[in-house]
Parts: sequence; structure tokens; C-alpha cells
Amino acid sequence: MRAGSSRTNGEARKLTPRQIERRISQLGPWFHNMNLGGIQTAPDHFLGDYPMVKWTRFSHLVPRDLKGMTVLDVGCNGGFYSIEMKRRGADRIISVDSDPFYLKQAQFAAEVSGAKIEFHCLSVYDLRQLNERFDLVLFTGVLYHLRYPLLALDLLYEHAVRDKLIFQSMLRGSDAVAAVDEDYPFAERAIFQEPGFPCMYFVEHRYCGDPTNWWIPNRAGAEAMLRSAGFEILEHPEKEVYLCRKGRRAIDYGRSRDVLERAEQLIPLGLRD
Ligand SMILES: C[S@@+](CC[C@H](N)C(=O)[O-])C[C@H]1O[C@@H](n2cnc3c(N)ncnc32)[C@H](O)[C@@H]1O
Repeated sequence: MRAGSSRTNGEARKLTPRQIERRISQLGPWFHNMNLGGIQTAPDHFLGDYPMVKWTRFSHLVPRDLKGMTVLDVGCNGGFYSIEMKRRGADRIISVDSDPFYLKQAQFAAEVSGAKIEFHCLSVYDLRQLNERFDLVLFTGVLYHLRYPLLALDLLYEHAVRDKLIFQSMLRGSDAVAAVDEDYPFAERAIFQEPGFPCMYFVEHRYCGDPTNWWIPNRAGAEAMLRSAGFEILEHPEKEVYLCRKGRRAIDYGRSRDVLERAEQLIPLGLRD
């Protein structure tokens, strides 16, 4: 196995509630609230019972039986979604996060839950290293933490998604989606004032006290970026969540491949956030 990688064997680790409680506390603070052997990991989460409250609003998008399917969870954090995918019987689950702090939580949660999962300390920009495409890719809650969000979507398309993508992002600004033409004359200015024109808000310093919030799209912006990266939106069951299918890229493929390859050359130079 590569450095920074690990695997749980699928057998639930037998620990007493006291041992679980102590380990949860050592590994905290947790962003994912999960019930591990009767103990909650983040009972005072500012978003409530998160991400359970979110999951219940889009869980119907994922087949109840994932047998025969492979799943990649990008930015897995404490492992809530990875464990849910295992509960639905996915054959193989790979979970990656660029932050070893969260991967340790996910590994422990998987051990206690008896979920067989493979973990890699890997950035979304390095997904090529997995050398594998997945039937279902989860990319939830990560886009706005990236300095190069469109590159991440392009790389997911190029190297990770075989069929379906579940995408979720914090959204801000208008909920409207304006009808946008393919082209405008240079003199056109009014369209940029439309609340439903695709846009991303750049966060120079912090949002919600978090310096890793970089770009927050409005709804039209998120949808336009997904399409531009080659994902066809199938369903939008919840304000922030999209089920997509890998489709054809909307932009000239030759040109974008060239740009993508050049961008990828920058990755070993330290593109991480
Ligand atoms: C807001 S949490 C979302 C967690 C989970 N996917 C969810 O939807 O609840 C963002 C996660 O993305 C991870 N992350 C941030 N930048 C990343 C990157 N470049 N590559 C992979 N994971 C990243 C963070 O470490 C964190 O665990």
C-alpha cells in the first residue's frame, strides 16, 4: 500500500463504550456526527445532526443495493457517506481526503462500524494516481474549499467518474437560473447584473471563520460548472445536491484537454488546497 493509505477489514472492532468515547474525544473535533457504538461524535454540531439531516434529503438518489458497484468518496471527512455506501453493499469503496486528521476519524468510524473501506490521503487534484474510474463518485462539500474548483471538476471527469457523480456545494447568492445565450457582444453589460447569471463569489480571507472557503457559487454557477466539466444534471432533489451522469463535454475537447494537461503539470509543484 502507498504511504498514507490504509484499509479496514470489515470486521467491527470490539470496544467498550468507554473506550469508544475516549477515542472519539482524542480524534476530535468532528465535523461528521455519527453514532459509533452508541456514542455521538459531534452531538453539538452547528448544523444539527449533520450530515444525517442532509443525507435523508437525497439518499433516495443512491440505489438501495450497490452490489457490484465501486464507489469513490472524495473529501470523505469522518467517513459518514463512505459507511452509508458500504451499508448499501457497494463492492469496493475508496475514500480519500487531503487531511490526515479527518482520515484518522474515518478509519476509526469504519473500524467501529465494521465497514470495509480503503483510505488514501489524497487530494482531489491527485486522483489520477488511483488509476481507476468508479461507478459512483461522491464529491460533497469540497468544491468551495478549493482554490481551483473547475480544475477539480475537470479532473473528476477525466480520471475518476465512470458513470454517476453526486455533487453538493454550499451555495450563496441568488437561487435563480437565468436563460443565458451562448455568446454576447462586447457591449452587453446588463446580463451580468442578472441575479441568475452564473457566478462564483471569491472569499479573499475567511467565511464562517474558515480560511479554506475560497469560491462559493450561486446556483446557476454550480450548474454551469458541472455542465462545462462534462456532467449532465439528472436530478436536483435538494437545494445544494445534484445527481449527475458523465456526459459529453460542452466545450471544445481538444482545447480543454490541452489546458487540463498543462494544469496537471502544476500539481506536483504543490497544488493542494
Ligand atoms: C465540509 S467537509 C465535507 C465532508 C463530506 N464530504 C461531506 O459532504 O460531509 C470538506 C472535506 O473536504 C476535504 N478536502 C478539502 N480540500 C480537499 C482536497 N483538495 N482534496 C480532497 N479533500 C479535500 C477536507 O479535508 C474535509 O474533510
